Amino acid sequence: MTSHPDPSTKVSLTDLTDRKSRGEKLVMVTAYDHPGARLADAAGLDIILVGDSAADNVLGYDTTVPVTVDELLVLVRAVARGTERALVVADMPFGSFQVSDETAVANAVRFVKEAGADAVKIEGAGPSLARVQALVGAGIPVMGHVGLTPQSATMLGGFKAQGRTAAKARQLLADARALEAAGCFAVVLEAVPAEVARRVSNTLHVPTIGIGAGPDCDGQVLVWHDLLGLSDRRPARFVKRYADVGSEIRRALEAYAEDVRSGDFPAPEHTYTIPEDELALFDAAAEEREHAQDADR
Ligand code: KIV
Repeated sequence: MTSHPDPSTKVSLTDLTDRKSRGEKLVMVTAYDHPGARLADAAGLDIILVGDSAADNVLGYDTTVPVTVDELLVLVRAVARGTERALVVADMPFGSFQVSDETAVANAVRFVKEAGADAVKIEGAGPSLARVQALVGAGIPVMGHVGLTPQSATMLGGFKAQGRTAAKARQLLADARALEAAGCFAVVLEAVPAEVARRVSNTLHVPTIGIGAGPDCDGQVLVWHDLLGLSDRRPARFVKRYADVGSEIRRALEAYAEDVRSGDFPAPEHTYTIPEDELALFDAAAEEREHAQDADR
């Protein structure tokens, strides 16, 4: 049965775990701006992730690697200002948490304090575990992310599914458990075989959020531009497109250009008027000025 979350109450971390234990699915989407956040919030989505996927979806980078904390802070602020109910998670970009616990905490504090995020997400396990502990120790909720972690795609051999051998699936499960033990309140599983994701989800107490990880995760996440058809790239296998907003925007822009060029826009209903007598005074004053200038020449 579809659950209808209470639209008036802010989603809390304990809600997420409670909903996992009740078998209610969590819905997460990325968003990168204020109108997007308002729409996602009004639609009753539970978690809005300001993903580092902003890099390729809105900032024109080829990958997520170059995007900076300062660039994402602007987007997180806009999203937080547009969100009342959903939990807002800021993705920590490459380089913002790898160097040391201190830099990780300092950058995460900026996302929470300056931008209004409720939580942060960091990619990976292994070396990221100490960071999770440091962040949680500093009072910042952390979402983990294992499987295909785009910030380290080169190390993983490219953008491909992870955990497809028994050894790799075992490692993935161990990583997810370690993230939970380190204090993560949820873990994203990206591009992982459904059967492996199911076992991970059944093992963890905190919710798993899948993207390309099958139907048995505790929640699902999709990237805004993929879900709405706003990207002209070929979508990954795991994407389901719920709209073709890109085509509709293009149709509207072409119609606008056509109207401007033909003179059909703006029409009288888009235009302000001035009373006739005021216009006559204005013209008379302009005429007088012209005469005065002619006399000066
Ligand atoms: O940045 C992003 O969009 C993400 C999701 C794919 C989970 O990390």
